[in-house]
Amino acid sequence: MSLFRLDASITPATSQSRALADLVEAEWSAEHPDSIVTRRDLGTTPLPATTWRDIITSSGLDEDALSPDQREARALAATLADELINADALLLAVPLYNWGVAAHVKSWYDITYTDPRINGGALKGKPAVLVTVLGGNYNPGTPKEGWDHSTPWLRRVIEEVWGADLLVVQRQFTLVGVNPALDQFTDQAAEIKVAAEQLAAEHGRALAAKRQASAA
Ligand SMILES: Cc1cc2nc3c(=O)[nH]c(=O)nc-3n(C[C@H](O)[C@H](O)[C@H](O)COP(=O)(O)O)c2cc1C
Repeated sequence: MSLFRLDASITPATSQSRALADLVEAEWSAEHPDSIVTRRDLGTTPLPATTWRDIITSSGLDEDALSPDQREARALAATLADELINADALLLAVPLYNWGVAAHVKSWYDITYTDPRINGGALKGKPAVLVTVLGGNYNPGTPKEGWDHSTPWLRRVIEEVWGADLLVVQRQFTLVGVNPALDQFTDQAAEIKVAAEQLAAEHGRALAAKRQASAA
């Protein structure tokens, strides 16, 4: 059994997305103690910004016509795709930055999507958990309702483009306690945190069980 884990926080020491993903992973590992966990940390080790361009511009070229950069870019895409395809389950932990899909996550997605196996349906039905954390609150009626352009996009590509079997854990208001302007939301944020932690554990168990069910 194997789990692929993606982290994308640029501040891992205080990361709430990592903390939630740790809860998911703990449940997975409790059920599958011998499982391999393959890790890719885009926050601490971003992918080169030129990789995607080098792959796209190499389209249609024979191997011997590739520049060294293009060759390297194609090899990296294959490695990233292998990490997803070879795993029995996926765990992706992605914070909201500047109201959109973080550039380093989009870059990773774009590169993997150049691999014909990924855009050809190799991830169809793969069990996955997406953890998203948001500093603010985007619920209906809040001033920033509709401004989270990360979670809906991630859902769409994971569920509809990859066809993965997705569960989502979202925690809002992680900046409460960090940004004093949000102090009035302390109690609400504490409740949200507890609920997200419970859901992370629940989804971790579900992820482990799904693999068991489909492997049986
Ligand atoms: C550069 C930067 C941009 C951010 N942009 C947003 C944002 O647009 N909306 C939001 O709700 N929170 C925003 N945040 C807050 C993060 O989403 C929040 O701190 C989250 O918990 C970070 O993930 P982590 O705890 O896993 O590191 C931003 C944080 C940073 C550092």
